[in-house]
Amino acid sequence: MEKQSFVVSVTGSAGNIGSLLLFEIPKLGIFETNQRVELRLFDLPGTQAYQEGLVLELEDAFPTQVSSIKILEESAENFRGTDLLIMLSGVPRATGQERKDLIGANVSLFKRMALMVNETAKPDLRVLIVANPCCTNAFVFSKHAPNISRSNIHALLRLDFNRALSYISHHPSVRPFNSSFEGLRIFGNHSKSVVVDFSEASVLKDGVRIPVTELVSIEDLKDIQEKVRERGMEIIHGRGKSAGSSAAQAIVDHINDWYKGSSKVVAVGTYFEELAGIKAGVWLGLPVNCHGRGDINTNFEPENIPEEILKDIKTSIEELKLEKRVALRCLEERGE
Ligand code: LMR
Repeated sequence: MEKQSFVVSVTGSAGNIGSLLLFEIPKLGIFETNQRVELRLFDLPGTQAYQEGLVLELEDAFPTQVSSIKILEESAENFRGTDLLIMLSGVPRATGQERKDLIGANVSLFKRMALMVNETAKPDLRVLIVANPCCTNAFVFSKHAPNISRSNIHALLRLDFNRALSYISHHPSVRPFNSSFEGLRIFGNHSKSVVVDFSEASVLKDGVRIPVTELVSIEDLKDIQEKVRERGMEIIHGRGKSAGSSAAQAIVDHINDWYKGSSKVVAVGTYFEELAGIKAGVWLGLPVNCHGRGDINTNFEPENIPEEILKDIKTSIEELKLEKRVALRCLEERGE
């Protein structure tokens, strides 16, 4: 017997990431046997014709895996029944901007969407926030969607994780052993303050686990962190728009691990109350173990984080707290 479809709603579905991501969703490893996916596409009215074209292509690409594809207007009713909501819509970053410069442009949108989704949300709805600044957007969304458990709202930090993984995997001293690499940890904001921590990273060399810090100089590791921090802007400079395919891949990785689990520590932007004695109360990137079915737990002991890394994490948390204050002030000034 055919199972009830798994409903995935995507906001910003006609955009830079959306038009690529839609073709990855039916291939996700999260559906049950005999379960098909229902896609709901949300974007601006001006994108209607483009979205109609996308629907035709999706139908041709996935004749049996998709039960239905609908182009819809944003409303509480149209989000009803959603199992997974992927939020891509928002003004993107342009050359010379920091992600936090988008708070003013995107804060009202996230509040409006939250109020809508909250009204009809299934108790186990999961929300992945990608539009920037993703951690602060997650805070705004959650504040206005109290029916959705905070633990079911994630921000995408997987891009930073994948970027750092790519850099370290190609480092000449790690490259020969990179298939056994593990232990990369990402902390903090998806911004220029993101912290890339290799203190627990290791590779298998001649059957023995060797810390990456013994193979790679501290200068090279710091350089990787700097490159990860700049990578998004480097892509914008090159393409004239922000990351598309790599962002879609990071979303796929995040979702697969969230639902199916992962044997390795990965990075998730999640709510955290307090870290190393600092009151956080924000969404931030943390190293986590994913056990499947949404069950995740953080994988670090603050007392084991090296002092210098901890200092950087504190800086990133302060930045997130400032972004949160700016977002709240924006809403207040607009009377929202
Ligand atoms: C990225 O990291 O590529 C995205 O967050 C887009 C951006 O503004 O950099």
